[in-house]
Amino acid sequence: MEHQLYDFGMIGLGTMGRNFLLNVADDGFAALGTDINEASVKALNEEGEGMRVRGVHTQEEFVSLLSKPRKVMLLVPAGKIVDKVIEGLLPLLDEGDIIIDGGNSHYDDTNRRYEYLKEKNIRFLGTGVSGGAEGARRGPSIMPGGDRSAWNDVRAVLETVAAKVNGDPCVTYIGESSSGHYVKMVHNGIEYGLMQLIAEAYDLLKRVGGMDNDSMSALFDQWNKGRLNSYLIEISADILKQRDDLTDGHLIDAILDKAKQKGTGKWTSQTAMDLGVPVPTIDSAVTMRGISAFKQFRGEAAKVFPVLHTDEPRLSGTAFAEAVEEALYFSFIICYAQGMHLLAEASEELNYDLDLEGIARIWRGGCIIRAELLEKIRLAYRGDDQLRNMIMTEQFSTLLNDCRESVGSVIRLASERGIPTMCMSSAFQYFEAFRSARLPLNMVQGQRDYFGSHTYERVDREGIFHTEWGK
Ligand code: 6PG
Repeated sequence: MEHQLYDFGMIGLGTMGRNFLLNVADDGFAALGTDINEASVKALNEEGEGMRVRGVHTQEEFVSLLSKPRKVMLLVPAGKIVDKVIEGLLPLLDEGDIIIDGGNSHYDDTNRRYEYLKEKNIRFLGTGVSGGAEGARRGPSIMPGGDRSAWNDVRAVLETVAAKVNGDPCVTYIGESSSGHYVKMVHNGIEYGLMQLIAEAYDLLKRVGGMDNDSMSALFDQWNKGRLNSYLIEISADILKQRDDLTDGHLIDAILDKAKQKGTGKWTSQTAMDLGVPVPTIDSAVTMRGISAFKQFRGEAAKVFPVLHTDEPRLSGTAFAEAVEEALYFSFIICYAQGMHLLAEASEELNYDLDLEGIARIWRGGCIIRAELLEKIRLAYRGDDQLRNMIMTEQFSTLLNDCRESVGSVIRLASERGIPTMCMSSAFQYFEAFRSARLPLNMVQGQRDYFGSHTYERVDREGIFHTEWGK
């Protein structure tokens, strides 16, 4: 008969769950895990040899070995499995126990689960966890939302396991109900945007600049030491220099150009549409994953619509690389600005009462979108807690103005040479549209009134107007 009770439990011992639990145990908490897959339980017991961590095979044993109130985290695939695991747990738990869903669940599901579990007096935290397997093991960024008293009870564990930036843990209580999963979803939307922007910069350097993989890797390394410093630039430099085990070349050239997706980017675009917040750079990144999936169609279309100007010279000097760096920096700022703007509106519309400075703060370390820029973003939101869109702040408006010229010329070059820059162009066009005091949407209003009597307002007097057009 075993007497030691464990401080923290994990259901789902795949790579993420196992690594997260080992991280919990590293920090001095007694950590217990379970999984329906026997091999995963065995892997935890092997990797955790000599640590205060253990894997057990049944949920009954798992629950009986946790100290009360029980703290049970789920790292299982989002969707129906989460409901199934919760249903299995419910008869075994006591009132006041805590369930933490650490997967990428849709926020509507999290709202439903939060309400359902509240009725049963089980405290629920829908929690975003970012940083991949390495982050889970060494320190992720953690975004818990839901029952505040549950946060108080798990705070010590989560603050200890989270990544640290200057000693500051990358976790904070995000807010009520589904706010933690909503914020993680927007994190992923920004992640989609940044990834596609880097991909487009790579394409430009390769096809316009004529650079090879090793030179691009070195350039990305150099960028990573400057203002573009970020996890995604860092890993892109590594990806570019990786040799292929199966051929003589670089691995990047052997990877099929079709990107998959699990849905969080698309959900970001969907909610942004619902709330009326423009996030075209995120939308474009989702669209590019969609277009990439039509590989065969693209192959056929490439024959019907060949590139028009094939004799353009390469721009191999440093000036072009510098222009691409400026265009990328500009587009990164716009991509974060769109995500933060969405959070600002969602905070009000969905009653999340988000602390945007706090969110920028916990994204500075551990997560996939961590970047030097996030400290600037944090300061912008700290300086003004009513701030919606950061492009107008003094600091960002100066940075954007400084890069405007380059982003315009890089996109012009790309379009002359038939290189798609959906994401970068959308960032630039978003900027161009927002800085236009007058847009041609007077024409749209005229058309709406023409065919549907939908009325319009005027620039020179108050009121609502309708015209019998053409009469
Ligand atoms: C993270 C990642 C993580 C996961 C994405 C991948 O923050 O650690 O975002 O959650 O890798 O869900 O998403 P796609 O499969 O949609 O690209």
